[in-house]
Amino acid sequence: MVPLFEPYQLGAVTLSNRIVVSPMCQYSAEEGSATAWHHAHLASLALGGAALLFVEATAVSPEGRITPHCLGLWSDANEVALGEVLATLRAVSPIRIGIQLSHAGRKGSSEVPWRGGQLIPIGAGGWQTEAPSALAHLDNEAPPRALVEAELPELTAHFVRAARRAVRLGFDAIELHAAHGYLLHQFLSPIANQRTDRYGGSLENRMRFPLEVFDAVRAAVPEEIPVGVRISATDWLDASTDPSWTLEQSVHFAEVLKAHGTAWIDVSSGGISPRQKIVLGPGYQVPFAARIKEMTGLPTIAVGLITEAKEANAIVARGEADCVALARAMLYDPRWAWHAAAELGATVPGPEQYWRALPKSAGRVFGDIHIGMR
Ligand SMILES: Cc1cc2nc3c(=O)[nH]c(=O)nc-3n(C[C@H](O)[C@H](O)[C@H](O)COP(=O)(O)O)c2cc1C
Repeated sequence: MVPLFEPYQLGAVTLSNRIVVSPMCQYSAEEGSATAWHHAHLASLALGGAALLFVEATAVSPEGRITPHCLGLWSDANEVALGEVLATLRAVSPIRIGIQLSHAGRKGSSEVPWRGGQLIPIGAGGWQTEAPSALAHLDNEAPPRALVEAELPELTAHFVRAARRAVRLGFDAIELHAAHGYLLHQFLSPIANQRTDRYGGSLENRMRFPLEVFDAVRAAVPEEIPVGVRISATDWLDASTDPSWTLEQSVHFAEVLKAHGTAWIDVSSGGISPRQKIVLGPGYQVPFAARIKEMTGLPTIAVGLITEAKEANAIVARGEADCVALARAMLYDPRWAWHAAAELGATVPGPEQYWRALPKSAGRVFGDIHIGMR
């Protein structure tokens, strides 16, 4: 038995193994609509034998985008374009497909990373960003506009409408992005949330808006579609001197989310402050996932510098997380799961068209489950 390749039940969704393709922004959409790039990029990842593929952070409104080129799901045109991508993926792969719904908050209106990622001024194609408090992410940036309480129901409604579109498109799972310093994380962390109303201050107050969004999305989505949450488990700051989000708060948030019906916690970290002091290393966020799993019993996805098959297998074998998500390693080697299966003596779904690809050393990597273009 190879734990990394054991099936897993994520709510009503059966995963053929524990390998997840982490959501990855491509900054290649037009007015939020998927393009040829998304067909090629996602199809390549869908053929690699992982069990679950997350479509990148998908903005629930135009202002919710990180960059003008981010994927979105706020319009009929967005829905049609993404539907075509999904049809391609369904035709060629049995992989389960999730979507990450997101709002960038104060990290919106930015240039794409390969052009520097800096804030785009309003007159130059940018927009007025919105956040819990009028606090800029970087000192030299124009501050966001502080959302007033009366605006929050409409923001929640954006998440709900996007979730309904995702359901119509036939996504298998929905993940809310409450990590990496984006809007929902901005509400959670005192770094970005210095409100004095019932959405700021105490931990209960800071969790209020993300929980309202979770509840509204959960209620709008059929029961058989699991809804999970990606969090930043820590802001990587010294909370005793720099009030910020900590692992203890994450454990509490996860406990509350469990009571509200989350299907998993996807455990990342950081992204809210340029003062963060991240300690990087192989599997550096796995202990956070393990702690949350231990304290809450929730299904967890571990992510972050998991690159080796043996290491990924050990994370699952030791019960530190139920699944492992990989991002950069998947771009570098979209067939990562094939190679992991070959190394560990397991099998993955493989397309018939590629059956002749296997070198002798790979053994019988392609299992019984397979799908090809029919
Ligand atoms: C190109 C790229 C785009 C990313 N976009 C997203 C995203 O849309 N949503 C998200 O939650 N994380 C995003 N991330 C973070 C990854 O999902 C992952 O958490 C991180 O890269 C650590 O995993 P890794 O070491 O396997 O790359 C992105 C990472 C990369 C490299």
